[in-house]
Amino acid sequence: MDTFHHLPVLSSRIVESFASVPSYGTILDCTIGGGGHASLLLKQYPNIRIIGLDQDPEACVAARKHLAPFRHRVKMISTNFANFEPSEPLSGILVDLGVSSYQLTQAERGFSFRYKGPLDMRMNSTEGETAADLINRLDETELANLIFKYGEERLSRRIARRIVQNRPFASTTDLAYVIAGCYPPKVRNGRIHPATRTFQALRIVVNNEMQVLDQLLATSPSWLTPGGILGVISFHSLEDRRVKRSFLNDQRLDRVTHKPIIADEFEKKQNIRSRSAKLRICRRKGDEHQD
Ligand SMILES: C[S@@+](CC[C@H](N)C(=O)[O-])C[C@H]1O[C@@H](n2cnc3c(N)ncnc32)[C@H](O)[C@@H]1O
Repeated sequence: MDTFHHLPVLSSRIVESFASVPSYGTILDCTIGGGGHASLLLKQYPNIRIIGLDQDPEACVAARKHLAPFRHRVKMISTNFANFEPSEPLSGILVDLGVSSYQLTQAERGFSFRYKGPLDMRMNSTEGETAADLINRLDETELANLIFKYGEERLSRRIARRIVQNRPFASTTDLAYVIAGCYPPKVRNGRIHPATRTFQALRIVVNNEMQVLDQLLATSPSWLTPGGILGVISFHSLEDRRVKRSFLNDQRLDRVTHKPIIADEFEKKQNIRSRSAKLRICRRKGDEHQD
């Protein structure tokens, strides 16, 4: 495994968001990745404990290594957060959605159109259908609908038609090349790569991302003790809309943020991923935590 690299987004805002957690509280990090946010929380709040989840076994190895200095306060579980049920009340829950920079830049994981690799895109490479299986199996209408719904891609029908004409596909760059050909040349070389939205759609479906997010938003508030904090970082409008709606309508929660917290200009320059990050925070209703 190469060195795990991932710069956590909105880190200082995450750390301050959990300031009200009691000193011996437990925070569940549903998407621990390389343990970036978790290590900052463990440093800032010297008695809290963290339960860390990740469906990617490689991320769990990286997080364990990174968090070794705090190992007595950390419990790692390699699982999808949709399959998790806590056995203790939680003072905080953190969710940092999507893929890590490490996953994105590992060619063999197949997440990026920038690196030639197998069209895989599974966050947990030990189970489920790959992106190649998916696009080689679906019919043209199903493909167009998927690309439109989860990629918000205007050219979904044209892209689906070209995919069907040119399949089977096995590699990321072959697929990206065919998608780019669906765009007029001046857009093809624009700021956003033409394959961005289709790749987003495929990744969302391969990993069942919207369903597991909906499930987590429905169940996790009841895992919190009164006054407990739930913070979610999303990276595109399909995720953020769900988080916003859920925080607004959930009778168990009070919103701490009414507008999402976004990165400042300095962070946006340092960390490209932060440009699309939106953090929303809410608090479980009831008495405030007692220390
Ligand atoms: C953006 S990274 C998290 C980075 C982390 N906050 C840090 O600071 O290092 C997202 C991580 O969440 C994991 N992930 C995404 N969806 C998941 C799910 N449904 N269940 C468990 N882990 C998930 C991914 O495998 C990835 O490692």
